[in-house]
Amino acid sequence: MPAKIITVMSPKGGVGKTTVSVNIAAALSVLGNRVLIVDANLETPHVAVYYGLVGYKYSLEDVLNGKIGIVNAIYKTDFPGLSILPSRVFKDKGDGNAKYKLINLFYHLNRISEDFDFIILDSKPSSSVDFLRFVKNVNTLLVSMPEIASIIEAKKLDYESRASGVNVLGLVLNRVNKKVKGAMSEDEIKKVLEIEKIWEVPDDLNVFEALKAGTPIVFQNKRSPASKGFNEIAKDLLSI
Ligand SMILES: Nc1ncnc2c1ncn2[C@@H]1O[C@H](COP(=O)(O)OP(=O)(O)OP(=O)(O)O)[C@@H](O)[C@H]1O
Ligand SMILES: [Mg+2]
Repeated sequence: MPAKIITVMSPKGGVGKTTVSVNIAAALSVLGNRVLIVDANLETPHVAVYYGLVGYKYSLEDVLNGKIGIVNAIYKTDFPGLSILPSRVFKDKGDGNAKYKLINLFYHLNRISEDFDFIILDSKPSSSVDFLRFVKNVNTLLVSMPEIASIIEAKKLDYESRASGVNVLGLVLNRVNKKVKGAMSEDEIKKVLEIEKIWEVPDDLNVFEALKAGTPIVFQNKRSPASKGFNEIAKDLLSI
């Protein structure tokens, strides 16, 4: 069976796409799945950093530029069942052309789709789903923080995704802190954003610690509030 593909997206930068991507990929692997995480954010790629992976030879840029086949740029992590296709943080000559070829990503992924149960794509901040437009059976998870500007942008992306035939699984409301006055509640968000499913991930200082350790928090601190949030999402994703 081909892998289920989930793209993690938000129009706003810095809301937690990479944190969500690396942790749901990790949580899905703990649940016994073969998972590939792809760093499709070619501009500010941090997936490898979040896994503490350094010194890899090939990257997504090489695949998109036709230098190598996709299997050569997939690296097994130290965690069973979890592999990564990184993008290059410090670009080589010619890497810049890769972003124009991102539309071909799914052609490359088709070649290895049977080798995984889930493929998680981290992405750059964007309101556009152009690179998903011709892809069948692709799912997205929207990510937002509980503040109005981020929610309004998520609404635009939700609309654009559905209009393009992309299946929106729901919204990950990240960095929820009930003590912060002025943060939007789930009910208020549901009024703006007509979305079936909202998962909450708490604002959790342990996330920074895990980042410093180069280990997803679901491995590094299993009982932390954020880990519980990520594990809940992963469990729900099993049934898509
Ligand atoms: N639930 C959380 N609790 C505390 N800190 C968090 C949480 N989620 C993310 N962060 C922190 O917020 C910052 C931005 O997160 P992240 O890099 O995942 O965002 P992003 O949306 O991928 O950013 P970009 O748009 O640059 O790709 C990081 O320092 C991360 O550690
Ligand atoms: Mg990111």
